[in-house]
Amino acid sequence: MSITLISNEKIAETSSRGNQEKWLDNGKWYKVDQFGYEALAEVFTSLLLEHSNIEKDTPFTFVRYNMEQVVVHGRQRTACSSPNFLPQNTSIITISQLFKQHLGSSLSSKLTSLSSDKQRMLYLAEATADITGLNLFPQYLTLLFEVDSLVVNDDRHLNNIAVLAHDTSFDYCPIFDQGAALLSNTRYCPMEIEPRSLINSQIARPFNTTFNRQVITMRTQFGKQLCLPTFTKKYLQELVEPLLAYYPARDRSYIMDRVVATICLRQPHLH
Ligand SMILES: Nc1ncnc2c1ncn2[C@@H]1O[C@H](COP(=O)(O)OP(=O)(O)OP(=O)(O)O)[C@@H](O)[C@H]1O
Ligand SMILES: [Mg+2]
Repeated sequence: MSITLISNEKIAETSSRGNQEKWLDNGKWYKVDQFGYEALAEVFTSLLLEHSNIEKDTPFTFVRYNMEQVVVHGRQRTACSSPNFLPQNTSIITISQLFKQHLGSSLSSKLTSLSSDKQRMLYLAEATADITGLNLFPQYLTLLFEVDSLVVNDDRHLNNIAVLAHDTSFDYCPIFDQGAALLSNTRYCPMEIEPRSLINSQIARPFNTTFNRQVITMRTQFGKQLCLPTFTKKYLQELVEPLLAYYPARDRSYIMDRVVATICLRQPHLH
């Protein structure tokens, strides 16, 4: 498949690690791998979430990603795609933008002024609910952190949390952007390092604490949201296997080991 790159602009502020190239074409958003196997991380996470209670028992939804091969700047690249989740007359407002409009100053400085992680989490959850009228925003945020904790997504910065805005009302944004999960950034998580030590050293954002602490604090206040079956190693291997074809043969067994190790190590903390 050949795609003309129609936009190389920075469309939303900012991962500290720079942005993946992405564009909208014919109703689908494409994101190209940048530092490792981000597309596989997106797709694999959405496959796991198919087994969850999210769209069965909650009012929340998640983005489905697919693997793609695309030609960008004349070169064959691995990417993922997702159906455009914005209906007409709807826009996405990141939490960072929302608070900027509402407070007139930055959310991160407001969060810094609070004196504990617990206070920061409660503020983000409850102030967003107040501003938007989305009463279940604390539960939505809890769910987001549970998903991140399962797949060790360390990139939940304040522009990877968002709401949807219609003319006069807000709605929950489908859960999106787990591309940094599963140790996909091989620059920060080199292939030769044993997965367990990498997994244990990842830091949860946006509060720069541990994944367990982020989930426990939110669950204590707002209850457990995410329910999943216990995945066996064999099942996880079968799920990841078809996605490996998009990566060089020499990397496949490493990627398999890292993905399976992440879920096996993390899932007991979510049950
Ligand atoms: N399926 C989609 N439907 C609608 N908008 C989308 C979709 N996918 C991405 N976008 C838009 O692109 C923005 C960035 O997407 P995403 O966070 O997945 O990319 P990213 O490059 O991983 O971002 P970053 O590295 O800055 O966290 C979103 O905030 C949204 O505006
Ligand atoms: Mg993002």
